[in-house]
Amino acid sequence: MAKKMSRKVQPVLIIHGGARASFPKAQMEGLFRDQMEAIVTEAYAILGSGGSAIEAAVKATELLEDHPIFNAGRGSKIQADGKIRLSAALMDGEKLRFSGVFNVQGLKNPIALAQRLNNESSRSLSDRGAASKAREWGLKFRSPYTKGRLEEYRLEKKGKTGTVGAVALDSKGRIAAATSTGGRGMEWPGRVSDTPTVAGNYANELVGLSATGIGEQIVDFALCAKVATRVEDGLSVKEAMQKSFREARKQKFHFGAIALGRDGSFSAMTTTPFMLWAVHTGKAVKISL
Ligand code: GLY
Repeated sequence: MAKKMSRKVQPVLIIHGGARASFPKAQMEGLFRDQMEAIVTEAYAILGSGGSAIEAAVKATELLEDHPIFNAGRGSKIQADGKIRLSAALMDGEKLRFSGVFNVQGLKNPIALAQRLNNESSRSLSDRGAASKAREWGLKFRSPYTKGRLEEYRLEKKGKTGTVGAVALDSKGRIAAATSTGGRGMEWPGRVSDTPTVAGNYANELVGLSATGIGEQIVDFALCAKVATRVEDGLSVKEAMQKSFREARKQKFHFGAIALGRDGSFSAMTTTPFMLWAVHTGKAVKISL
């Protein structure tokens, strides 16, 4: 591992709202743009006032979970048995510490539970165990169902929006990655998403990543952990992402990822036609729309 920086670092925050098979329809474009801009700006304010990468990544993910246009928290896709099960993960790059929540029902912000678990001896919890700890710790519960998702389910239609996530670099040079998802939609109950695994969410001292797309393929490719290892082995964030996505395209995988390095360099790539992402560099906001 490289030595920690002592100089003050310019914070950066990158977020995503999922990889997609197509661009959002013209009437949705403005809504997505406005929401992405509002969310990246609100969460960046934490970094701007000296807050930690973990606080900013969690805040951005909570905001994405709370907005029903994204497939995480409220507005998540419905599984084959009519239930919504939520998964989320947080990785503290400085401490090299991962925590995850698998298939919990009715929790307002699964990422808040992942954050709480990050300091515990049992750091990944599933289903009823996760819900029971969330209740014990006083986390909020709320129905994640929306009219749109119920209609999709009734028509057995595939929902368009994907997983959400955020990677933050704070003024002390620390990186955190957070990801949250309602899953693929219409999956068998008990199916485990890539999100609460190191394939779907990973960070170390040099880079943080959050993935979106078909979970099985993200796991097959070990996406986030692979890119992070390549950066550890000496590639730049951009080179590691380019190499990995070249290979992924050859395999005809359907997924995307955002990556943010300790030097503030960032990358957003997808093998799908479109991915919704936004970055705040402290000087400007850039959005993929
Ligand atoms: N990437 C989300 C999922 O496949 O569950």
